[in-house]
Amino acid sequence: MRTPKYALVTGASSGIGRELAELLAREGYGLVLVARRTEPMRLLAEKLQQAHGTPSVVVGADLGSPEGVATVMREVTARQLEIDMLVNNAGFGLAGSFSELPAESQLGMIDLNVRALTALTRALVPGMVARRRGYVLNVASAAAFQPGPLMSVYYASKAYVLSFSAALHEELREHGVKVSALCPGYTETEFAARASEHQGSRLFNGPLGTLGAREVAELGYRGLVRGRAVVVPGLVNRVTAWLVPFTPLALKLRITRYFNASDS
Ligand SMILES: NC(=O)c1ccc[n+]([C@@H]2O[C@H](COP(=O)([O-])OP(=O)(O)OC[C@H]3O[C@@H](n4cnc5c(N)ncnc54)[C@H](OP(=O)(O)O)[C@@H]3O)[C@@H](O)[C@H]2O)c1
Repeated sequence: MRTPKYALVTGASSGIGRELAELLAREGYGLVLVARRTEPMRLLAEKLQQAHGTPSVVVGADLGSPEGVATVMREVTARQLEIDMLVNNAGFGLAGSFSELPAESQLGMIDLNVRALTALTRALVPGMVARRRGYVLNVASAAAFQPGPLMSVYYASKAYVLSFSAALHEELREHGVKVSALCPGYTETEFAARASEHQGSRLFNGPLGTLGAREVAELGYRGLVRGRAVVVPGLVNRVTAWLVPFTPLALKLRITRYFNASDS
């Protein structure tokens, strides 16, 4: 039997990552599914095996911990899997003031959203370059386009993802590797519940332009395959992203602060 091409998807236990995994199974990829909760991934793997004959490897790993990426890479190496597509999707945000949110949680956001994403990319891209073939989809956010008072570390972490991905898009183009940053606006997933752990946010009250995780996943995949550096799903989010550079910083900060604040 022919060895299938494999996609490694982080944050595959829910939301956008789960939808991307389902889509990639339909596209014929074998899957390496990574997140902390293994049970939802095991059930997903079973479903995809039955529906499409997808071979899946489930890896339970905390990518925010120092050994998280090493755990994933040990599985990939032990099974001699060639990863054709890396989807760096695992991430979380926290609403609240910088001085009051726990320092450990805020540094944990950097460990997951920035450090693990960079480490996995560094571990898997050299193989893609050697094969002159590969894809990397990094899930940033519409938050990447401006600073975000009351969610400052989250917005800054996503600005890193956008900048890093756009640079790699250019750097790896000549090596046959396509890299995209997916920048969704508010999407209905488990994200809001985790982000509101300490404080709520107007952002999560069903704002204009909200898309579902499946639509976001489909637009992200399509943009990646078409070779787009940056994919912003949804018209409202695209118009907003376009307006950002023309808006004075002081006004951007006020508007973003208003939306990030709790309305209670
Ligand atoms: N929803 C939105 O409005 C929105 C907007 C823009 C960008 N995004 C971005 O989209 C990405 C996916 O989020 P989502 O909206 O789909 O939210 P979600 O439903 O909460 O999914 C987050 C995924 O990341 C995994 N994850 C969280 N912490 C982890 C850790 N320490 N180690 C390994 N995996 C971890 C979670 O699995 P476990 O809990 O099982 O570990 C889950 O599978 C994130 O990068 C987020 O920043 C979301």
